[in-house]
Amino acid sequence: LLSLLRFKSLMIVWVFSMQIILLATFCMVSIVISAYYLYNGYKQENELPETSSEVECGDPQLMPYKLMEMKTTKPVDPLRTDLVVLVFVESQYSTLGQDIITILESSRFQFHIEIASGKGDLPVLIDKNKGKYALIVYENILKYVSMDSWNRGLLDKYCTEYGVGVIGFHKGNENSLQSFQLKGFPFHVHSNLGVKDCCINPHSPLLHLTKPSKLEKGPLLGNDWAVFQINHTAYQPVIFAKVKAPENFPPPAALSALYATVIHDLGLHDGIQRVLFGNNLNFWLHKLIFIDAISFLSGKKLTLSLDRYILVDIDDIFVGKDGTRMNTNDVQALLDTQNLLRAQITNFTFNLGFSGKFYHTGTEEEDEGDDLLLRSVDEFWWFPHMWSHMQPHLFHNESSLVEQMILNKKFALEHGIPTDLGYAVAPHHSGVYPVHVQLYDAWKKVWNIRVTSTEEYPHLKPARYRRGFIHKNIMVLPRQTCGLFTHTIFYKEYPGGPKELDKSIQGGELFFTVVLNPISIFMTHLSNYGNDRLGLYTFVNLANFVHTWTNLKLQTLPPVQLAHKYFELFPEQKDPLWQNPCDDKRHRDIWSKEKTCDRLPKFLVVGPQKTGTTALYLFLIMHPSIISNSPSPKTFEEVQFFNRNNYHRGIDWYMDFFPTPSNVTTDFLFEKSANYFHSEEAPRRAASLIPKAKIITILIDPSDRAYSWYQHQRSHEDPAALKFSFYQVITAGPRAPSELRALQKRCLAPGWYATHIERWLTYFPPYQLLIIDGQQLRTDPSTVMDEVQKFLGVSPHYNYSEALTFDSHKGFWCQLLEEGKTKCLGKSKGRKYPPMDSECRAFLSSYYRDHNVELSKLLHKLGQPLPSWLRQELQKVR
Ligand code: A3P
Repeated sequence: LLSLLRFKSLMIVWVFSMQIILLATFCMVSIVISAYYLYNGYKQENELPETSSEVECGDPQLMPYKLMEMKTTKPVDPLRTDLVVLVFVESQYSTLGQDIITILESSRFQFHIEIASGKGDLPVLIDKNKGKYALIVYENILKYVSMDSWNRGLLDKYCTEYGVGVIGFHKGNENSLQSFQLKGFPFHVHSNLGVKDCCINPHSPLLHLTKPSKLEKGPLLGNDWAVFQINHTAYQPVIFAKVKAPENFPPPAALSALYATVIHDLGLHDGIQRVLFGNNLNFWLHKLIFIDAISFLSGKKLTLSLDRYILVDIDDIFVGKDGTRMNTNDVQALLDTQNLLRAQITNFTFNLGFSGKFYHTGTEEEDEGDDLLLRSVDEFWWFPHMWSHMQPHLFHNESSLVEQMILNKKFALEHGIPTDLGYAVAPHHSGVYPVHVQLYDAWKKVWNIRVTSTEEYPHLKPARYRRGFIHKNIMVLPRQTCGLFTHTIFYKEYPGGPKELDKSIQGGELFFTVVLNPISIFMTHLSNYGNDRLGLYTFVNLANFVHTWTNLKLQTLPPVQLAHKYFELFPEQKDPLWQNPCDDKRHRDIWSKEKTCDRLPKFLVVGPQKTGTTALYLFLIMHPSIISNSPSPKTFEEVQFFNRNNYHRGIDWYMDFFPTPSNVTTDFLFEKSANYFHSEEAPRRAASLIPKAKIITILIDPSDRAYSWYQHQRSHEDPAALKFSFYQVITAGPRAPSELRALQKRCLAPGWYATHIERWLTYFPPYQLLIIDGQQLRTDPSTVMDEVQKFLGVSPHYNYSEALTFDSHKGFWCQLLEEGKTKCLGKSKGRKYPPMDSECRAFLSSYYRDHNVELSKLLHKLGQPLPSWLRQELQKVR
């Protein structure tokens, strides 16, 4: 019994000690596990068992409150603000900031960028009772919520008064979870987490382009999301999502909480509507919602229409190595797909470009493919693409271009290809831009071409800057790339992998090309329709994706109608803006070797008229290194290219006025056209073609200039100048006869010096501008010419004090010739006429007062001395 008892007590001790050991082990393991999770952050995925995760897309009944009953505050009154978006970015180079700007630029919306300061400093928001901005965007919403109360008060007041909304972004990072209440908002933000199974709220009033289709369930890329936890009916989700929640994720405050990656503040709280994004714009759906938010918050004023026109060109039918061309099956697939696409793109028709010379140059099966294409001529649209696929800029003579075109036309006629569709495309964009005028002329002659397209105007990149223009009555439309090139033949071999192509179609570059451009002309190639038929794959999938996710209405128009539509939408693009063909390598490659870029001026004398511009011109051409243009039969020494319609003759026409300089670095070509000075267009056009050119302007007292102009018109027997006195001209009221008003304008407007110079300075930096005192040019020309030589940096130095002499007979300085003879300006320069009467002078003095004050400020800013006439005028002001 004793031994039994001892055994029992031994057992008890053993069990007890075992329990202690087990307990200790358990504790140890728990500590280790806790430590593991403590130091490794969250790795476990726990779904939230709350309502948020149970809400199904498109199932509003299950939602915690009725989204249908949405009230918002008063929308923006577009008449009270300019249609400009104010964007606060983190820095000039911040990625999201650039993405925001890219969308605004692509949508052709005006915007103003400010770098968001910590204090929240604001630019001027109101100008003459009108709001300057229709919408405010913050790249970082924290800058908005934490700005100082003074600035916030100002901004809130502006937003409520003008009905202006705010868009903001909160992007997390991959660090550990953060949860906080957004200052001033009754909801929580949880950031730095992953999300999944996201849905679009089908009842969000924001949706315009976006169609609330169902996304495939699954996680979204990245663990840097922020979600807004909503339990207040004044804040509606636009996109809601489940959270891939970490273990220590706090439970939602109420069962009714939703997690949204985009939230719409209906403005019921403080009268300001806001849309907040819980990430950047990398997620394509956020991009689409961002576009819709701009539209909605701007009261549909900054909005894109739902119509999209798509034209798919197959540039080089018949051109392609054997093995890459279409056989009969491929052609049949082309026809079938065209029919299929018509269900989603109204009137969809492939537009085939042909180079007849290469017909029947494939394998036997491919030649049969050619034949089936021609048997199906009526099913497609057709356009000429040069007989032998040659680049037009290689043909200097228009006649040889015409010959080539006639061969292709003959081919078309033989095979029943229509020849009257009015559209053509040049191989490699050659000749379209930069303009090879021979191509335009030959196209008109042989094909009566009215429309073409190119990717090169003004440059290939960035694509969103591409524009159209009209030249010689040919409408040039911008072209878009769709990621398919002659060498993209096999799906598996797509550059970067097939996923890249799919990404571009499904919410990537190609998708947004269609979303952001009302008209897209896509370039594809024959080889994209043989083998893996990537052309068909791309457009079928694109149409599907667009159809699924947007409310866009896709359609195709024949090229001429399409072009008219284009310039109806963008009339401001009709006028071209020429650039130097040698400044872009791609342009240089398609610029004729027989043409140069050196026949362009290094400086311009821009006027204004009657300030001594001809005298300056005469003095300049005396210099051995300075060469002017040859005279124009109509406008004599002036070319008058940048200001008026001569500009539309193109740069070949302009360059023909200049010799090829014998030494490009030391020779200074220039031109003087005195009415460039006050022209609206000249500065922009000149800066585009000759951005490095120096600009010289001459100023005299604007009252004297006006009087000199009046006298000039009288001696040219201008009827109004003969009929009316100078006083009548300058004082004419708004109801005066039109010829009198016209003369008045030409007398007075060029004298608004500050306004005109400011315009030049928006296109040229101040160090490229020289302002000459016209009075000094008249009395002391050699000093002025020294200054001009220094400004131009021209050599050798030319001694004008020896080369000029005062001609007492003429009353002006003239060129000194051999044997003491002089060469002065003609009778029309330095005329004799009575001095201006005091009444006119007093009137003009007062008329120009404000302009002169502005000019003095401008000269002061530029660090230039004030001419004596200006100092005198300013004294009168005091
Ligand atoms: P007036 O004829 O009214 O005196 P522009 O060549 O720009 O049309 O300017 C003509 C003006 O240049 C003339 O106006 C004249 O006053 C001025 N001028 C200045 N220097 C001159 C010069 N050396 N010879 C002739 N005119 C000169």
